[in-house]
Amino acid sequence: MNSPAALITGAGTRLGSLFARHMAALGYDVAIHCNSSQDGAKQLARELQSTGRQCEVFSMDFSEAFDADEFILQVQARFPGLECIINNASAYEAAPTAGTSRELLEAQFRVNLVAPFLLAGSFKRYCGQGQVINILDNKIAYHQYQYAAYLLSKKSLADFTKMAALEFAPEIRVNGIAPGVTLPGETRGNAYVDWRIAGIPLGKKGSDEQLTNSLSYLLQNDFLTGQILYVDGGESVNQVGRNHENYPDSA
Ligand SMILES: NC(=O)c1ccc[n+]([C@@H]2O[C@H](COP(=O)([O-])OP(=O)(O)OC[C@H]3O[C@@H](n4cnc5c(N)ncnc54)[C@H](OP(=O)(O)O)[C@@H]3O)[C@@H](O)[C@H]2O)c1
Repeated sequence: MNSPAALITGAGTRLGSLFARHMAALGYDVAIHCNSSQDGAKQLARELQSTGRQCEVFSMDFSEAFDADEFILQVQARFPGLECIINNASAYEAAPTAGTSRELLEAQFRVNLVAPFLLAGSFKRYCGQGQVINILDNKIAYHQYQYAAYLLSKKSLADFTKMAALEFAPEIRVNGIAPGVTLPGETRGNAYVDWRIAGIPLGKKGSDEQLTNSLSYLLQNDFLTGQILYVDGGESVNQVGRNHENYPDSA
C-alpha cells in the first residue's frame, strides 16, 4: 500500500510551506513545488524528512509553457500514492486594466489559472482519484479593478473549481479556500493592515491555524465538492472592500 502523498505548489515560502507542513502533520508524504525559492523548499524538505515523511522538491516556472503531464508523472513516479494537489502558487501584481500589458496579463493567468487547470487535468488522467484544493483569494467576491489581471485569474480559478468538481466527480473532489488578510506581503505597513482589519466584520486578521483547520475540513468532509470556503472574517460579505489602492493614506 502506497503512503498518501500531496503536491503543494509554491511551497518554498509563506503559506505554501504552511500547507506543506500541515499535510505532513496529517500523515502525507509531500511533493514540494517551487520556482525561485529553491533554498526554502530544500530546507522545508529536510525539516519534513526529519519528522519521518518522504519529501522531495520539484521545480517549475509556471509562467513558462510547461508539460503538466510530464510534471505530474514525475511526481507520481516518486510518490505513487499521490492523491492530493494544493494549487497554492500565485503571481500577484497590481495594475488596472488600462495599466496592464499583454505580458502581465498572460503571466498572471499562466501562474494562477493555466497551471492549476493543466495540473488538475493531468492529475485526473494519471492519478484518477483524490482531491484538488485551489487556493483563491476572498477578493474574488469583489471587482477590484486595481488588480485586474490577478483578480480575473483568481475568479476564473474559482469558476474552474466548480466546473472541474462536476467533471471529476465522483472520483476526485475539487474545492477552494479563499483566504482574507492572513499573511500580508512584506511591503504592507502596519497602518495599512490595521485599516484592512477595520473593514473585517470579525475585526481581526486570519491566522495560520484558521487556514489549516479549513484545509483539514475540506480534506476530511467527503460530501463536499465544488465549494469555496471563504476564510476571511466575513470581509467578503462586506460589500465595501478595502485594498492598498483605496487606502486613504497612500499618496
Ligand atoms: N497571504 C495572504 O494573506 C493571502 C490572502 C489571500 C489569498 N492568498 C492566496 O494564498 C496563496 C499563498 O499566498 P502567499 O501570500 O503565500 O503567496 P505568495 O508569497 O505571493 O506566492 C506563493 C508562491 O507562488 C509561487 N510562484 C509565483 N510565481 C511563480 C511562477 N512563475 N512559477 C511557479 N511558482 C510561482 C512562488 O514560488 P517561488 O517563491 O518558489 O518562486 C511562491 O512561493 C496564494 O494563492 C494567494 O493568492 C494569500
